[in-house]
Amino acid sequence: MHDPVASQLEAVLREALPAGVAVAAAAVSAAGALLGVEAEAARPMAPRRQQEFAAGRACARRALAALGHPEAAIPMGPDRSPAWPAGICASITHASGYALAAAAPRGLLAGLGIDLEDCAPLDADLVARVCSPAEAACHPRDIPPGAWPRAVFSAKESLYKCVHARIGRFIDFTEIEVRAGVGGALVFAPATAGAGLRLVTAVTGCYRVAGEFVVTAAWLGSGVQAPP
Ligand SMILES: CC(C)(COP(=O)(O)OP(=O)(O)OC[C@H]1O[C@@H](n2cnc3c(N)ncnc32)[C@H](O)[C@@H]1OP(=O)(O)O)[C@@H](O)C(=O)NCCC(=O)NCCS
Repeated sequence: MHDPVASQLEAVLREALPAGVAVAAAAVSAAGALLGVEAEAARPMAPRRQQEFAAGRACARRALAALGHPEAAIPMGPDRSPAWPAGICASITHASGYALAAAAPRGLLAGLGIDLEDCAPLDADLVARVCSPAEAACHPRDIPPGAWPRAVFSAKESLYKCVHARIGRFIDFTEIEVRAGVGGALVFAPATAGAGLRLVTAVTGCYRVAGEFVVTAAWLGSGVQAPP
């Protein structure tokens, strides 16, 4: 039987993403088997990490199947990013016992990142590392008290997953400014000019609260003229 929290996460993310993006969620405890190179990659991992890795792969396979892709191993790249089938952009996240994946044809999206976090407030030192004072202050009303810095953290991780392959370097949390737009939208901008991050202004983002979780996503439309 499907887990009600997983069903809620799946529904919330599906509603937030553009039509045509496939989404799948599952409890990490329901993780399926790893295939081929995935099992090799997982061998050095601790058992708990193996389980979340397997749950993420299982969700990704479900999302890919919904787009018509046959079941296959999803290799892990040297930077830990998954190697997706040709013509696909996709993303995996896991937190607090749940895994979530989303996948889209490249004809629809040119980049995609998703992130799941529980709503628990971040420690003050982490808030200071992740949010500028201006970001921390622009707390939208539709998110529980204390959860906004967590949403900013999540939004920046979604953004990183969406653009990392194109930007080609590590991006620090302080290099990006996030603000809440209307209706759960997120707007991204480089914190300073000239850091090679103009691409992020072309990224669309969203945040949603689902029970105890905050879910964020960031995507680049395939037709969007991305600034260099
Ligand atoms: C890569 C990163 C964002 C992943 O986040 P995380 O805290 O491990 O948590 P999540 O569970 O949400 O995501 C993990 C999944 O992201 C995916 N992932 C890892 N590295 C990735 C990358 N470079 N690009 C895209 N996806 C990546 C993997 O699928 C991974 O799961 P898996 O190892 O089981 O396959 C994080 O580890 C990181 O390096 N952050 C620092 C950079 C950053 O976020 N900067 C913000 C400013 S833009």
